Parts: sequence; C-alpha cells; structure tokens
Amino acid sequence: MTTPCGTPVRPRKVTTATLQSLRSRGEPAVFVTAYDFSTAVFADRAGVDMLLVGDSAAMTVLGHRSTTQITMQDMLVFAGAVCRGASRAFVVGDLPFLSYQPSDRDAVLNAGAFVAAGCDAVKCEGGARIAARVRAMTDAGIAVMGHLGLTPQSLGQLGGYRVQGKTLPAIERLLADAIALQEAGAFSVLLEAVPAEASAWLRERLDILVYGIGAGPGLHGQLVISHDILGNFVGEIQPRFVRRYADLDAVVTSALREYAADVRAGRFPAPEHCYPIDPAEAQCLASASAFAPATLIAASA
Ligand code: KIV
Repeated sequence: MTTPCGTPVRPRKVTTATLQSLRSRGEPAVFVTAYDFSTAVFADRAGVDMLLVGDSAAMTVLGHRSTTQITMQDMLVFAGAVCRGASRAFVVGDLPFLSYQPSDRDAVLNAGAFVAAGCDAVKCEGGARIAARVRAMTDAGIAVMGHLGLTPQSLGQLGGYRVQGKTLPAIERLLADAIALQEAGAFSVLLEAVPAEASAWLRERLDILVYGIGAGPGLHGQLVISHDILGNFVGEIQPRFVRRYADLDAVVTSALREYAADVRAGRFPAPEHCYPIDPAEAQCLASASAFAPATLIAASA
C-alpha cells in the first residue's frame, strides 16, 4: 500500500478497538495460529486480523503428544518471533498449562512476559474456576481472551477431544463460565468444538467478543490452526471443522526428495550456485603445491 505520492503506508495495527469496530460492521475477524516469524509475515500480507501463538505449538511444532508439555520458555520464543513478524495483526499469546492456574501472581507475571515479548493479549483456558486469575491479569492492564468448550489443557477431565455443549445444561454451564470471564474483565471468549446453535445462543447472551474454532458461523471471528489449513500437521488428530487450503506436506516432501536426488546425482550445486574466482587466481591455485602454501613460503623467505 502507498500514498498518492508513492510513500509506503504501514497498515494500521489491529487493536481491541479495531476488533470492536469489525463487530459493529458485522465483519468476522480472521484469526489463525502462528508460531514463527515467516508465518506471521505471510499472515500479515494476507490481511489476517488476529494471530494466536497457541500452545498447540507443543504438537504442531515440537512434536509433543499434548499441549500440556510446552513451557513458558518455549512459548516466549514463539511469541517473540511472531510479534517481530506481525506489524498489523493483533497477537494473542497462549498461557501454557500451569503458567496461570497456581496463583494470581503466576498469572500476572506470565501474562506480563507475553506482553513484554510484544503480544497484544493473552489467552487462558477455563471459566468460573479461573475467573480470579483473569481478574488479576485484567487489573494489571492486560487484555485477556478466555477459552471455553473443548479446552485441551483439561483433556484428562474432558475424556478426550470431544464436542462440548451438546445439551441445554451443558450450554448453560458454558454461559455461566463465559459470564464469569466477562465479569472478570476478559475482552473476548473463544469457543472450541461447540455446536453452532449453542455458540450462537451464547453469543446473543454475552457483551464481549465471541470467537470460535469448530463452533459454527455467525460469531465475531473464526480461528483455525495454521498447520491444519496449510496441510503440514504431522499427527493423528483430524477435526471435522478443518478445511484444507494447501498441501504443504506434499509440497515440502516432494521438494526435499528432488533436492536429495539432485545432490546424489551431482546436479546440485550447478555452476550458477558457485562463487566465481578471478581466472588468474584460479590458474595460480591450479599450479600451487598441495604441501607448500605460497603465502607461507613468501613469509618465511
Ligand atoms: O493452542 C491453540 O492453538 C489453541 C486453539 C486450539 C484454540 O488454543
């Protein structure tokens, strides 16, 4: 983007105010996970509004079996890289397992570390039972997104990757949790793996922004895991709500296979991949003795 005089214009940073105006205009926010610098740059170029540095990095990037195995230290490396790449998108840092549950102090210090790394907000899982932690973080001036429904940090309690909010009592419990988060000052809530009718019902009863992943249309924005839509997730989980937009697995595997074949056949590197040397120097080099470097002979003479 440039001004009429050709000066490059830096796109305006997305803030919570931008997210509210998207909602007033009835435009859904486009929300994707990112864990590295280049994905953040590409997402910014594509006009993505929000990036989640998700603890799903445990599985997508680090190859762990669950999100509970990632640490704050790991998450801050990913958060820093994403924040350096995203100049427009609103970046949400995902508080990993046990970084906020133990105490208000842990919650504030760890959420603060994401903000210091450049994040615009943090996300944490749970409702009423973590409302006090959310209040401590919002009192410290940090924007907090709640996460309800399928909350992978509590997989043991949920009994696996299961759709949540399938009955009226369960949906009412989700509402009570979302209201607890709203009252604790959260600016938004993310619903994961909830039937579309239930999410719409919840959205109508909440004042805060409601985003969804596998929670149907009609919310204030849609989140997807970048590895799911780009086709480079190496793992067994294949949620129903994923639509694939690229097949990076096939593209990357085939490029690496071609590279391997070229190296083994001596086709790479080719002359155009080599640095040139002055022909006179090449001549000297060709006639130089392997055991008596010319410079050492000159120095000792
Ligand atoms: O870590 C993550 O990517 C998430 C989404 C699955 C909601 O928390």
